[in-house]
Parts: sequence; structure tokens; C-alpha cells
Amino acid sequence: MILEKDKLLKVIENSIGYLENVNSLPIGVNKNKKELIDKIDTKLPELGEDFATALEKLSVGAKAGLIGNRNPRYFGYVLAGTTPTALAADWLTSIWNQNAQVFNSSPAASIFEEIVASWLFELLLLPTDSSIGFVTGGQMANFTAINIARNSVLERDGWNFDNNGMQGAPLITIYCADVCHGTILSAIRMNGFGERNIIKISTDSEGRMIVADLENKLSTHQGPKIICSQAGNVNTGSFDSFEEISRLADNHNAWHHVDGAFGLWARTSPQFLDLTKGIDKADSWTVDAHKWLSVPFDSGMIITKHKEALANIKKTRCAYSGIQDDFKRDGSQWVPENSRRARGFVLYATIRNFGKKGIQEIIENNCNSARQLAKMLDSYSDIRIINEIHLNQVLCRIEPKKIVTNLNKFHGRVAQRIQEDGNCWIGTSVWNGQTVLRMSLTNIYTSKKDIQIAVDSIRKAIDYILKQDND
Ligand SMILES: Cc1ncc(COP(=O)(O)O)c(C=O)c1O
Repeated sequence: MILEKDKLLKVIENSIGYLENVNSLPIGVNKNKKELIDKIDTKLPELGEDFATALEKLSVGAKAGLIGNRNPRYFGYVLAGTTPTALAADWLTSIWNQNAQVFNSSPAASIFEEIVASWLFELLLLPTDSSIGFVTGGQMANFTAINIARNSVLERDGWNFDNNGMQGAPLITIYCADVCHGTILSAIRMNGFGERNIIKISTDSEGRMIVADLENKLSTHQGPKIICSQAGNVNTGSFDSFEEISRLADNHNAWHHVDGAFGLWARTSPQFLDLTKGIDKADSWTVDAHKWLSVPFDSGMIITKHKEALANIKKTRCAYSGIQDDFKRDGSQWVPENSRRARGFVLYATIRNFGKKGIQEIIENNCNSARQLAKMLDSYSDIRIINEIHLNQVLCRIEPKKIVTNLNKFHGRVAQRIQEDGNCWIGTSVWNGQTVLRMSLTNIYTSKKDIQIAVDSIRKAIDYILKQDND
């Protein structure tokens, strides 16, 4: 590589400039797709361009379409802004460009994954002899979990998946909440199952599985079973009753997987330990670092206490990867991918930077902010908070005094107005058949002042839309 040092330094300087200004830029994007494409040079170049031109075209072209999701008033999805430490470690990861595929392709990547693995088990209070795969995010973690669950429950039933595959295998039944995260359903589908194999369990008003319904439905099916529970519903933030679900899983020899993409981090605070009581009895867990650990995309983990099952997901090894050695971690053995980004470096630096105490404080601060936001919104007579604030998720329904023809659409218009206004970013969701405003407080930098600004933006947007309808 010819090192164009000055040019690289210029890019770093410009990107730091972006970071310095990002909080004062509008958080939302208010141009349509055509307007955004018009800003980009879309012609495939015949001849290569120099470094500066190519990067300039990238920066200028992307600028108008960037969402300000680092901003502490970005409450969409479940997204944390990254920290300088995580960002710098991510730069180093790109600069080192290690292939975390096997120990041979990067001893450092392998060793750092191993260190971080043991830290995560300790932080999340999971069995210390668990094993872990570092994947792109919650979707891939759920996919991997269902994959090893499928093979394991078949094995328990006397069917060897590796020899026989799925065709003719005993019928597996998978149980999940009727409001489980969409990635659970796609993980199930991508693992060779269809709608008929899935049994939806009724939930209470917060989205928690009704254990009695699970118990009944487990009894009505024979054969291998997988149960998917949830730590942190993406809308309400609620948690299933893990102790009871694990007991049922034991009784039915079922595999119990917990999707804790963001909720598993609640384990780091004594305040929330009750919510996850018994979760360590499950067989596998999903957790995302790009959610509450404030690292850049993409960083998720599949964790399981069944080491063998995870180690054997692929059973194949490329001849050029060197000899397998039990004492050296081959990162790709534990995940669907082969060549991989060395995600352990960013996790190592980030956890060092926060410490156990720091992570606990992030979780507690965000949850305090969620309570504060809910309380302030609830003080308006035309806004109703519709979920319990279990954690960091807030849902509200606007109930204007005057009659609004389509209240669901009205929520969409309010959210769009908030986004266009650019002071905070709030999206909609659907809960119990009604459109609601949905807020996820996951950013380490969100302050009391940000909450006040967000409340004012919501109020202003509601009044704006109401006035528009009056005029
Ligand atoms: C509970 C839950 N599971 C899974 C996911 C999917 O995670 P990812 O987008 O990282 O694939 C999410 C995302 O918000 C989530 O909240």
C-alpha cells in the first residue's frame, strides 16, 4: 500500500469535524430518494480516480442522506452513539485488517475474543464455561441459536442431523411469543421451518408470554421442542418469566433460547436483576454490543452453555486454515461466517474504557431518562404512556381532544414532523393494533436537557399537525 499520509490525515480531520458538528446537524433526513441520488455522482468511472476525488465524491454524495443517530436525542430502533474509545478501536481494527477466521490468520484477534468472552460471561452473569460466537448482530445470533437448538433437540431425539439432514427428521415444534421480535421468525424460517412448525404463545399487555398458555401448548405436541423467550421486548422493554419457562423447558426436554439483544445488558445493574431472574438456566442467549455497549456496527453475540453444539455448527474446515488445535480459538468455528472482522478488539477497548461500573451506570442512566421522559409526556392530558417503563423503552399514544379521522395515520404524521423538525428522532410502532410513538433510550450521552428538548419537539409536532388539520 502506498501510504498517502497527508490525505489520510485530512480524512481523519474531516471526520472529526463531522463528529464535532453532528449534534448540531438535523437528526433526520428530509430529502426524498430522488433528491438524495441527485447529489451523488452515480456514473461508473471508466478510469480510476485519485484518493481525494473518490473520497470527496463519497462525502458529498452521502452527506444529505445521513441520519444523525449518534445524537443523544436519536430515539429510534435500539441504537447507541459510539464513544471515542470504540471509534478509535474500530479504526485500529480496520487498519490492522485482521481476519478473525482462525487462530492462524490472526492470533491477536483470537486471543482478544477469548478474553472478551470471559468478561462478557462475568458481566452478564452467565455460566462461566459458556461459549460464544461473535456475529454481525441480533439477527445472526438468533439464526445461530435456532440452528444449534435444532441440531441438539434432534440429537436428543435420536436423530443425527449431520448424517441425515432435515428430510425425514422428527417434527420439531418451536414456541415463541405472539409478539416476538421479527428476527426470531426469520431465524426460524432460515433454519428450514415453516409457519406450521411455529406455535405462538399468547402474551399479556406488556408482551410477556403467558406461562400457562405455554404450558398447555407444550403438552399438546409430541417430539422435539424449542422455546424462544425474550429479555427486552423491542416495544415495551418487558421481560419473560425465565425461571418458569426454563422449568417447562426442562420438563419437556426442550431447548430454551433467550433473545436478549438489548435487554440482557440489564444484568449489569442490581436494580434490574429481578427482571432476568432464572435467565442463566436457559440454553442460549442473544446479545448485541452495537445496542447498549455503544460500539459501532456490527457487533452481536450468540452465547450458549452447550459448547459442543456451537463448536459443531459447521463441521467443515478449509484445508488452508491450518490444523485445528483445541487450545487455540478459531473464531469462525462458532459462527456461520468464515472470513470475519476482528470484533473482539473494539469490545476489549470499550469494556476497559467503561469498566463494570461504567456499564452499570449507562444502563441505569438510560432507564432513568426513560422514566423521566414518560413522566413528562404523561403530564399532558392528550398523551398517554401505554407501557410500564420496565427499562429504556417508552410507548405513547396521542389522544387529541378534537376528533381526528385516522388516529393511526395521525401518529405517522406526528413522527414525520418530529423527524423533519430535526431536534430529535422518534419513530412509530404498532402495539395492540394501534400506531404509537416509540422511543428507545440507549445513548450514553442523553441528558436531562435532551429529554426536555425531546418533549418540546413532540408537543410542537402534535400542535403543528392539529393546526394543519384545523386550517
Ligand atoms: C429483541 C431484539 N432482537 C433482535 C434484534 C435484531 O438485532 P439486529 O438488528 O442487531 O440484527 C433486535 C433489534 O432491535 C431486538 O430488539
